[in-house]
Amino acid sequence: MALKAEDVFRPGAFPEYTYISRKSAVSDLSYEFRLMQAIKVSGFLTSLVGPSKMGKTILCEKVIGFEKIVEVSGADFGEETDFWKLVASKAGLAYEGQFSSEKLITGTQDRYSKNEAFSLTKDKIIDYYKNENLVLVIDDFHYAPEEKRMRIAQQLKDAIRRGFKAIVISLPHRADEAIRRNADLSGRLSMINMEPWEVNELKEIAVLGFEKLGIQIEDAVATQIAIESLSSPQLMQYICLNICTILEMSESNTRCVKQEILETAYRYTTANFEYSDVVSLMQKGPNTRGKNRNRFRSNDGREYDIYELIVKSIAENPPIMKLKFEDIKERIYCLVSDDCGKPAPQTIKESLAKLRELLDAREDIFKVLDWKEGILYILDPLFLFYLRWGGGIKHV
Ligand SMILES: Nc1ncnc2c1ncn2[C@@H]1O[C@H](COP(=O)(O)OP(=O)(O)O)[C@@H](O)[C@H]1O
Ligand SMILES: [Mg+2]
Repeated sequence: MALKAEDVFRPGAFPEYTYISRKSAVSDLSYEFRLMQAIKVSGFLTSLVGPSKMGKTILCEKVIGFEKIVEVSGADFGEETDFWKLVASKAGLAYEGQFSSEKLITGTQDRYSKNEAFSLTKDKIIDYYKNENLVLVIDDFHYAPEEKRMRIAQQLKDAIRRGFKAIVISLPHRADEAIRRNADLSGRLSMINMEPWEVNELKEIAVLGFEKLGIQIEDAVATQIAIESLSSPQLMQYICLNICTILEMSESNTRCVKQEILETAYRYTTANFEYSDVVSLMQKGPNTRGKNRNRFRSNDGREYDIYELIVKSIAENPPIMKLKFEDIKERIYCLVSDDCGKPAPQTIKESLAKLRELLDAREDIFKVLDWKEGILYILDPLFLFYLRWGGGIKHV
């Protein structure tokens, strides 16, 4: 039976037909090998860190296999969650319960039944994991409450010493302190940093997938999609799937990905993303308490304040996830028409700092950028993609 596009390109699940193995830059070994190697070291905890949507979860699923992986999310933990109870139930073990036993009372015909409560001990759970060769993966560790993270690290420390296998996945700079800076764990930690995807690696997803579907794509077209995917395999999978849908819906019935449909595919892809609140918060900037902000006349004939200019500058070509201050300033100066005033560098810097503060105070979906040491980091590739293609910039 012919493969369907949705089986080949899978932005939200394990990509069986388009799985790409990559080499990690530091060691020239594949990520699969490094993870396998790390898991095999008894008594060590594995810390896998990398930006959002880079394939961290998929890597664990590939290496450990669905039979042996027990996935828990940081979001499953509340302040009160019992670590071992959760770890047991995710592995299909009943942690607490009752069993009834019947006994013949000696010397009589009477039966005596008794209900006994039991609760599994931590030791039993660790043994179960060891006997079944299970590996616990605590995914998106940054979603666990901060207080709780330290206590989880404590529990893990003790368990791994007894041969329990666990991997903790987190975003860089945010939540890995509980693990990587935990003195108790030092010397018993395998660290794997997942680097963003290169254009060539992303391109392979399209080349492999379209070939499986019998659809032609030129190398240059695949490269363009890869650039637009902003180092994220998930975006690559999304865009390719949308291209297939567009081809399927078109009357001409072509089996070739033409350059002309790319923009449409990008725009359709953003329909799945919900960043409009993030964009409008960024454009508004912090509360001015009634004061009016300076406005700057742009080449498109409209006027923008500094926050709107920053948002516009991030969305400009080429798409970049890590922008130096000079680049941002340059982009803004290109947007503002020459004959009017331009925002001072200091103003741009201060506004970037305030923007970061504003976003950081909000829920996780808002944490799309970081500004430090003169560099603006876009943390979420899907956000930048939305900004570029989602008509995200609203004119007020
Ligand atoms: N090695 C890979 N090859 C091809 N596609 C991948 C690969 N890793 C991830 N992807 C794609 O990216 C999506 C997101 O990956 P995921 O592991 O969930 O990211 P993360 O856990 O880092 O946020 C996957 O659903 C899949 O579509
Ligand atoms: Mg994940």
